[in-house]
Amino acid sequence: MKAAAINSHGGPEVVELLDIPTPQAGPGQVRVRVRAAGIQPFDCAVRRGLPVRGGDPDFPKRIGNDFAGVVDQVGEGAEGFPVGSEVLGWCLMACHAEYVVVPTEQIVAKPAMMPWEAAGAFAASAQTASTAVEDLAVRAGDTLLVHAAAGGVGTVAVQLAAALGATVVGTASPRNHDYLRALGAVPVAYGDGLVERVRAVAPAGVTAVLDCAGRGSLDSSAPLLARSGRMGTVVDFDRADAVGALKISTRRSAERLGALTDLCARGALRIEVSAAFPLDRAADAHRAVETGHARGKVAIVVA
Ligand SMILES: NC(=O)c1ccc[n+]([C@@H]2O[C@H](COP(=O)([O-])OP(=O)(O)OC[C@H]3O[C@@H](n4cnc5c(N)ncnc54)[C@H](OP(=O)(O)O)[C@@H]3O)[C@@H](O)[C@H]2O)c1
Repeated sequence: MKAAAINSHGGPEVVELLDIPTPQAGPGQVRVRVRAAGIQPFDCAVRRGLPVRGGDPDFPKRIGNDFAGVVDQVGEGAEGFPVGSEVLGWCLMACHAEYVVVPTEQIVAKPAMMPWEAAGAFAASAQTASTAVEDLAVRAGDTLLVHAAAGGVGTVAVQLAAALGATVVGTASPRNHDYLRALGAVPVAYGDGLVERVRAVAPAGVTAVLDCAGRGSLDSSAPLLARSGRMGTVVDFDRADAVGALKISTRRSAERLGALTDLCARGALRIEVSAAFPLDRAADAHRAVETGHARGKVAIVVA
């Protein structure tokens, strides 16, 4: 099969379309013919050399953590997803390829209304956002400040928090402010003067902060946080302890993913794919993510 994989660590140019053996479904697994996959900053970090547990042990190494596609092979004892099932799910460092093999615990049915690109780019960031909203115990009456609200994680976090009844203030550059309003957030520009701009829209300060941006966001948020407020970061683990922020790591499960896809099916959660690249241009997908300014998600279209 073809895979957009790497034979060495480095810049986007090391991503190549390679022929590698097509994986076979083992016991409890299905093989999925991938239609689309997501890409996120983590994939770029792995490409640059971030060590990961799991994934291919030697070069060539595959990349990509989430996918959507059609089941084309069912391993012994794997139940619930016969050949032809349309699914989406996650699989560590394997998804930018024509086929992926996964345990059935890592897939859910793809809602028919979900475009393939959005479905492929859903499982990783959406589950991070869901974990973060849960860990911060966001609830009605909260005022939640989300940094990098227009990104892959922020886009879903804003919508989940707003649906819970929180007032959401989101940081983004001005070109994304209408986008944030449409998601249900009050937009503010990041950078110098952030504290004053947030105070202008939330005079009593905020009761929770979700940092999806890093770059000093935890420190700049601290003066805005109510005494009993909660702060969490999915990025800046080095700074978290010093400012009393939770270090939030994604917890993935079919139950969590299924709940999120149900929201999509009901029209209560939407995913914006701002750029999509074919598998043979996966390097350009890496470049798009590495601008640091992708809106919503970047997808890789496989078939
Ligand atoms: N801990 C975990 O388990 C976990 C899981 C997933 C992701 N992550 C991490 O979470 C972070 C966010 O991931 P992501 O996929 O959402 O990233 P992303 O989609 O690549 O983020 C892009 C967004 O960041 C915004 N942005 C850029 N600079 C900013 C700044 N200084 N302040 C506020 N917003 C800024 C951009 O908005 P503008 O274009 O408007 O500037 C853009 O919309 C990454 O660092 C990722 O590695 C952690």
